[in-house]
Amino acid sequence: MSRPTRAVIDPAALRHNAARARELAPHARLMSIVKADAYGHGLLAAADALGNLSDAFGVASVEEAVSLRDAGCTKPVCLLEGVFDAQEFAALDAGSVSVVVHHDAQLEMLEAGAARASLDVWIKLDTGMHRLGFAPPRLTEIHERLRGIAAVRQIRALTHLANADHPQDDTTLEQLRRFDAATADAAIERSAANSAGVMAWPQSHLDWVRPGIMLYGAAPLHGRSAADLGLQPVMQLQSSLMAVKQCSAGDPVGYGGTWVCPEPMPVGVVACGYGDGYPRHVATGAQVLVNGREANIVGRVSMDMITVDLRGHASAVPGAPVELWGESLPVDTVAEWAGTISYELLCGVTARVPRVTKIDGD
Ligand SMILES: Cc1ncc(COP(=O)(O)O)c(C=O)c1O
Repeated sequence: MSRPTRAVIDPAALRHNAARARELAPHARLMSIVKADAYGHGLLAAADALGNLSDAFGVASVEEAVSLRDAGCTKPVCLLEGVFDAQEFAALDAGSVSVVVHHDAQLEMLEAGAARASLDVWIKLDTGMHRLGFAPPRLTEIHERLRGIAAVRQIRALTHLANADHPQDDTTLEQLRRFDAATADAAIERSAANSAGVMAWPQSHLDWVRPGIMLYGAAPLHGRSAADLGLQPVMQLQSSLMAVKQCSAGDPVGYGGTWVCPEPMPVGVVACGYGDGYPRHVATGAQVLVNGREANIVGRVSMDMITVDLRGHASAVPGAPVELWGESLPVDTVAEWAGTISYELLCGVTARVPRVTKIDGD
């Protein structure tokens, strides 16, 4: 038997979540964000599942764009951070690729003729995140310069929202106001909404929405569960018990002996650890599901194993199924125990964990 740890990916849940985005933003086109290997779910499988529901895909590297093309994806692909050097334009000759231009060097590469094949361009404006993007008042100048470049076909504008996950935070309204002021007269297609924008800020929907995390079934809004928001988890991180040990009162468990058995008790060893992407620093009280029932993690998470308290789990024997996160234990809950966000956990599932497609009815 091979190591039982795997990430089971549910394409039907992906499609459900994309349909939810469409339902919430019915007048906008949908750019599905599949960068970072589709947030750890597997780029090609995710793009395949989302194909019919997406108007475009958003990626972070030329390599991701090329691998979508090589796999036969015919939807437009947008390089969300643009190119990192002029040579990258050569790899984009395949057409139906758009690039973001967010700083002067990228604009100058285009003006110098770096793009041989024609392509669409998104002008990125920094409306308040202070990460990537031109100052909004430069929109007209940049638009004009792009219009003078033969290889540039359609020109659009986008911005990224910094605090949309907090529906009470006025930053989003201010960002949208700045974006609107800069672009309203330009007669170009516009995009601002990430998942939180799709869910909580209808005024951000504009011509294109760009959801990521909601597609994968994690909650994009603070204080709301994914289930509440009508989303279905796409990844189940599963493993099983590889051993059950009868310990005595006073036995320390795992590295450093940070947890000591208070009484004679069974301790289960789960075949999953930080080498698989499970977070090493989870708070006391963090749990996994053994045979579908909660079991507390005890002792430190190690590279390949997690030890759990099996008191009250009489039927938990080696081979018993364990859910680390997924349908019955939301990844958002595990992220909270680990002091992080679902994005980091999903993207952090390591290469040694096989991604397995869930077959309908599994
Ligand atoms: C430019 C851009 N648009 C959209 C998204 C999707 O964001 P979310 O996963 O919060 O929906 C991201 C993700 O970081 C992004 O960088």
